[in-house]
Amino acid sequence: MSTPGTGAAAANAEAIRRLLADLPSPEALPGWTAAEHVDGLSVAGGRVLLALSAKAEEAAALETVRAGIEAAIAALPGVSQASVVLTAEKPAAPAAPPPRIGQHPTGGRIELPGVARVIAVASGKGGVGKSTTAANLAMAMAATGLRIGLLDADIYGPSVPTLFGCEGIRPEATPEGKMRPVASHGIKLISIGFLLPPDAAVIWRGPMVSGAIEQLFRDVDWGTLDVLVVDLPPGTGDAQLTMSQKAPLTGAVIVSTPQDLALIDAKRAIAMFRKVEVPVLGLVENMSYYECPACGHREHIFAHGGAATAAAELDVPFLGEIPLTLAIREASDAGSPIVATDPDGPQAKAYGAIAEALLAE
Ligand SMILES: Nc1ncnc2c1ncn2[C@@H]1O[C@H](COP(=O)(O)OP(=O)(O)OP(=O)(O)O)[C@@H](O)[C@H]1O
Ligand SMILES: [Mg+2]
Repeated sequence: MSTPGTGAAAANAEAIRRLLADLPSPEALPGWTAAEHVDGLSVAGGRVLLALSAKAEEAAALETVRAGIEAAIAALPGVSQASVVLTAEKPAAPAAPPPRIGQHPTGGRIELPGVARVIAVASGKGGVGKSTTAANLAMAMAATGLRIGLLDADIYGPSVPTLFGCEGIRPEATPEGKMRPVASHGIKLISIGFLLPPDAAVIWRGPMVSGAIEQLFRDVDWGTLDVLVVDLPPGTGDAQLTMSQKAPLTGAVIVSTPQDLALIDAKRAIAMFRKVEVPVLGLVENMSYYECPACGHREHIFAHGGAATAAAELDVPFLGEIPLTLAIREASDAGSPIVATDPDGPQAKAYGAIAEALLAE
């Protein structure tokens, strides 16, 4: 590896293309050439980022090839850093082909002129009920007459098609080539789950995750919305970073269960959003207590109240608590959030109070 500025020639795209053209096909994939699969190439100073498109079934065989090409590029004069990534190849043409997914991030900030507020629902830990909370908060806001969209930013594990019973629906394309969100229960939905076959092996890496999320914001005809709710994947990785740096986020709501372990992750998520200067709109305690449907007795299975204490400690608003109930899970599994199936029930009231607290900010 050589460093730019030490007399070596500067790295350039032409040299990289020549290198790719000279590479033989890998033994495992006769006829496959890197040169024919360049999905993106950027050379900035000594930094090279090359994206090669690959079919899901080729990904494993191409891993060694990818690493070899990365090493070969890194050894070129003037290259200080080389990254080669495999990106998911476009799925077979759907009825109304949506814009290509899995593109490179474009660099600029995403503008959503028709959308008044963008509220991300996040958590540090997986499985605490973000998607359930995002779906029900979206419904609770819609119930007050607001125009609501829900963007599922979980590229690896999209939940929105299941939560709304919309699996297998494909968004239509508008004459301008944008995707029309899927309409369900009066709100507008978009998810990578609408664009990929359910069993697709998604092999994209960091930069492509960011690119795909960007497209779910940008390439969708959202129209006019009062609130776009965004269901984030768990953790504090690429998706969260893209969101905080590029999307016009009004703020983030953090969902946690009351256990100490979940709260530690929630605190981490709050710290991350603060670091990237995204306002934390508050903390929701999910699965706060179990209410016996027969006698109404409340059982604090996970040591109730931890989130309220953590919120006070961290100086973020505590937005409210959602009980652990069979009805919430059953409604979600059946493809309809509980706020839609039982709008006057106690769960819908709990979500409604949180939505109100959020919108009052
Ligand atoms: N308050 C609740 N009462 C009962 N079940 C719940 C509640 N909240 C969520 N669940 C159930 O818990 C499971 C996980 O919820 P969900 O998918 O919303 O979590 P998540 O945080 O989005 O997960 P992931 O990190 O995988 O995205 C689901 O089966 C859901 O129905
Ligand atoms: Mg989820």
